[in-house]
Amino acid sequence: MGRAYRQLIRPVLFAQDAEAAHNFALKQLARASRSPFLCGCLGRLCHAPALPVELFGLKFPNPVGLAAGMDKHAAAVPAWEKLGFGFSELGGVTRHAQPGNPAPRMFRAVADEAIVNRMGFNNSGAETVAQKLAEWKQRGRWPAHPVGINLGKSKVTPLEQAAEDYAESFRLLRDLADFFVVNVSSPNTPNLRQLQDKAALDEIFAALQSLNSVRKPILVKVAPDLTFEALDEILELVGPRRIAGIVATNTTIARPQTRDAAAQKIYAETGGLSGRPLRSRSTEVIRHLHRQTQGRLPIIGVGGIFTAEDAWEKIIAGASLVQIYTGLVYEGPGLASQIVAGLRQKMEAAGLPDLKAAVGSAN
Ligand code: FNR
Repeated sequence: MGRAYRQLIRPVLFAQDAEAAHNFALKQLARASRSPFLCGCLGRLCHAPALPVELFGLKFPNPVGLAAGMDKHAAAVPAWEKLGFGFSELGGVTRHAQPGNPAPRMFRAVADEAIVNRMGFNNSGAETVAQKLAEWKQRGRWPAHPVGINLGKSKVTPLEQAAEDYAESFRLLRDLADFFVVNVSSPNTPNLRQLQDKAALDEIFAALQSLNSVRKPILVKVAPDLTFEALDEILELVGPRRIAGIVATNTTIARPQTRDAAAQKIYAETGGLSGRPLRSRSTEVIRHLHRQTQGRLPIIGVGGIFTAEDAWEKIIAGASLVQIYTGLVYEGPGLASQIVAGLRQKMEAAGLPDLKAAVGSAN
């Protein structure tokens, strides 16, 4: 599957602008999502072996999830499970519908297997996404795996009203997903990352938890560019604000050294970098968070995962679950099941009874 994708499908997709290719792929997955027959075919092609994980009171069939940003409009909700993902994170969704930044705004640095994006939370808004989710449920097309929603701040909302903006999105979507991720780490909404500051984040979580009588797990997603001190400040809120876990990490504003002229040109673009060059920094952040919390806080590891080895690195550094975005672009739709199969092999080789035994074992 991986080889067929790389040799046949990827060249066709990569001949197009990155966002056009993304839209094309999503359109096909949205079409498949509406057809039980096509979903069945996808499921047979990309079926992942079982590797169950229980976390936040939710049952994950395997630990490999879809990262936020891939399905911002909840267009292909049933398809992700069929591609072998153990969970999916939809969005980023903002309170108000917004077009995002002007195009072009997504760029591939192929030599480094990386992407730079400055999408700017283009999405149809919390109300429309809520309708879309309700529709999937009514049609009986809801996946069996846990579904999360990534919440962002609307661009029109001033920073000091951020808490109400997030809270209103949460109120609209609360009953339609299994967990929520507060995204204060996108580099593409002006000043958003200032909300990672302890006082601002405290206010956002206070507003969300006041609406959260059903106790949905609410996590926070952090930037890889934060210092360990800044991460430690966020950890101080975990108990008081019932933060269920941390998603580490979002894209980085840093750029790697490269001699490749095409990559240099892409790295000169404003935006967040994802893919292979992000891998080791995101693992460092996971390791730090795991050590600081003595493994008591669930971590979802994301950043530069392309293989089972990459996923394993994040798991033994402290991640209970992992997610992929850029890997899917470069390796194709069989990647999730391939990673799950590789993780099972690693566990068997290490003689571990379950994945939990591996989490943080390198620390
Ligand atoms: C993203 N990512 C992202 N994250 C988030 O929290 N909300 C979002 O809306 C988006 N949007 C988005 C768009 C695009 C085009 C990309 C490439 C990425 C970040 C993503 O979820 C993930 O954290 C990073 O991409 C790192 O993982 P990978 O891509 O290296 O596997």
